Amino acid sequence: MPSARIALVLFLSLGAAPHARLFPLGSPPVELVASSFRRTVTASQAPRTPDVHFVPTPTAVVDAMLELANVTASDVVYDLGSGDGRIVIAAARKFGARGVGIELDPQLVNQANRNARKAGVADKVSFLSADLFNVDISEATVVTLYLLRSINLRLQPKLMRELKPGTRVVSHRFDMGDWKPERELTVRGVHVYLWTIPNR
Ligand SMILES: C[S@@+](CC[C@H](N)C(=O)[O-])C[C@H]1O[C@@H](n2cnc3c(N)ncnc32)[C@H](O)[C@@H]1O
Repeated sequence: MPSARIALVLFLSLGAAPHARLFPLGSPPVELVASSFRRTVTASQAPRTPDVHFVPTPTAVVDAMLELANVTASDVVYDLGSGDGRIVIAAARKFGARGVGIELDPQLVNQANRNARKAGVADKVSFLSADLFNVDISEATVVTLYLLRSINLRLQPKLMRELKPGTRVVSHRFDMGDWKPERELTVRGVHVYLWTIPNR
C-alpha cells in the first residue's frame, strides 16, 4: 500500500527511531536494535577518558614551578589535572598558599585528600573530581599544568577568558605555541615555562 509506505519512510526520517534509519524500508532484526541501543546507553554513561594519564611531577620540578611562579601565602594555586595532589599540597605546605586540584580520576582525588591529611594541609587544599575544561578557575592567582602541548593549546582560550590579569601560569614540560613564555628554566633536563595573564 503506497501511502503506508510513504508514512513509514517519513516516520523513520524524522528520527523517531534513529537506529532504524539505517533500515529505511524494513525493520532491523530485533537483536541488532537491542545491541545498538545498549551501546548508545553505555557510551552516554561512560566516564570521560582523561586527556593524559597520571605521571607525577618530580619534587625538584614541583619546587621549581612554585618558585618560578613566586607563590606566597596570599595565592590560590589551581593545578589542572592534579593527580595525587602533590603540587597544591607543596604550595600549601611550603608557602602557606591555598590550593585547589581538579582531577578527572576519583581514585586520584581520594589519594590526594589522603596525602593532604598526611601533610597536615587538609584545611588549605581541596580536590574536585571534574573535567578541567568544565570548572570555573577564575579564583586562581596561580595555575599549574602538566598536561600536553595540544591540551595547553586547547586550554589557552579558557585561561585568557577566566583568569584575572596578573595570574601566573606555569607549565611543566609543555609550552603554549605562539604564546611565548616570559621566563623558562630547565630543572633536571625538563623545561618549566611561566606566563602572566595580560591586561584585557
Ligand atoms: C601528567 S599528570 C600530572 C599530575 C600532577 N599535576 C603532577 O604534576 O604531578 C595529568 C593528570 O591530569 C588528569 N587529567 C587528564 N585529563 C583531565 C581532564 N580533562 N580533567 C581533569 N583531569 C584530567 C590525569 O588523570 C592526570 O592525573
